[in-house]
Amino acid sequence: MPVKIGLVGTGTVGGGCIDIIQKHREDFKRHYGIDIELVRVCSLDPAEAEAHGVGHLFTSDFHEITGDPEIDLVIELIGGTGVAHAIVTEALKNGKNVVTANKALMATAGEEIFHLADEAGVEIAFEASVGGGIPIIDPLKHSLISNEISSVLGIVNGTTNYMLTRMDEDGMPYDEVLAEAQAKGFAEADPTADVDGFDAAAKIAILASIAFNSRVVMSDVHNEGIRNIQPIDLATARDMGYSVKLLAIGHRLPEGVDVRVHPTMIPRSHQLAHVNGVDNAIYVTGDAVGETMFFGAGAGSGPAASAVMGDVLEVSRHITLGVPPIVGCTCTDELPIVPMDNLETRYYIRFVVPDRTGVLAAAAEVFAKHDVSLRSVVQEGTRERDAVNLIFVTHTAREKNIRTALAELGAMEDMLLADPTVIRVED
Ligand code: HSE
Repeated sequence: MPVKIGLVGTGTVGGGCIDIIQKHREDFKRHYGIDIELVRVCSLDPAEAEAHGVGHLFTSDFHEITGDPEIDLVIELIGGTGVAHAIVTEALKNGKNVVTANKALMATAGEEIFHLADEAGVEIAFEASVGGGIPIIDPLKHSLISNEISSVLGIVNGTTNYMLTRMDEDGMPYDEVLAEAQAKGFAEADPTADVDGFDAAAKIAILASIAFNSRVVMSDVHNEGIRNIQPIDLATARDMGYSVKLLAIGHRLPEGVDVRVHPTMIPRSHQLAHVNGVDNAIYVTGDAVGETMFFGAGAGSGPAASAVMGDVLEVSRHITLGVPPIVGCTCTDELPIVPMDNLETRYYIRFVVPDRTGVLAAAAEVFAKHDVSLRSVVQEGTRERDAVNLIFVTHTAREKNIRTALAELGAMEDMLLADPTVIRVED
């Protein structure tokens, strides 16, 4: 008996999954002894189903999938936390296994979803929610299980990595590079989720939860995006021997889990510094394995469908062999989230200030007052005649002190002509 599949969402990723099933169903039977049959597809657009040759399986009502007693496994690929939440929870309650690519859902409602899966004795798998086609969730749950993971560092947003790469290599200003990313279809018309770091925050919440065996939700993640980054920041970082990446960071510290997303300087000699364009990579350090990196395409039809179908086949194998769910929720510990204020690191801070006597001295005085020791100061002109870039690099300083100093400088009259650019250094 084939494992019966219902698919919700026939867009880029869903279409890729349909294509894989059609192309490789016979191979799956021959190679793995698993037969899967797509029995229903649901979306808002019947033309998408037609385009992939499954118009005869189309429904616009997801209940015809989540409520169909014949269906063993539901693939949810519509994203978001609204209808997708209803689809996933209803499917689980009805005893169906679920495969999803939905990072926002898993990073906000993961606990509820695991609980429902546990109650129903079914599986929830979500490899495609982080890193597109890169296998990372399965390796963390299986291959690296003998390790205590000390850190997970990820370049997990292709759009922003593309933008930073263009600014670095071609000196393109932020607005131009954003327009280009939108024209190429990487960035959405509303680019907020990518450029403000929300997409990466959901992904590191998922990775940190698994790596550190402790639930991390999206709201636990301090996130800053790349809106204030300009080519001058990339060029200055390069002179200092660093690359700038929107890094998703998770560290297991003695006092808890340190989890954050922000523009970060990493040494140009680090493997992650060489991950450019829309590529993604996740760098994992474990006590037995040491350092290991997972690299590949973080988005796109084929890569994301590859990750989804990997989950579908593994869960189908369990269904076929009558194996109960092997790995459910792994968040067995309750580690505290380390407050961002406690962070101690080095900072690159660029101000745009009026070119006037005393401005540099005043800024330096505010830093000194808040116990922020400066390592270097550089002044560079801007396109505006009366404004200059004032770039400070600090010695190791406390986040709380940096923020207090920035707030004080921001409140000074005629001081900052734009929001400061803050890049933390991860050595
Ligand atoms: N918007 C994401 C990115 C892809 O730019 O990497 C989907 O997770």
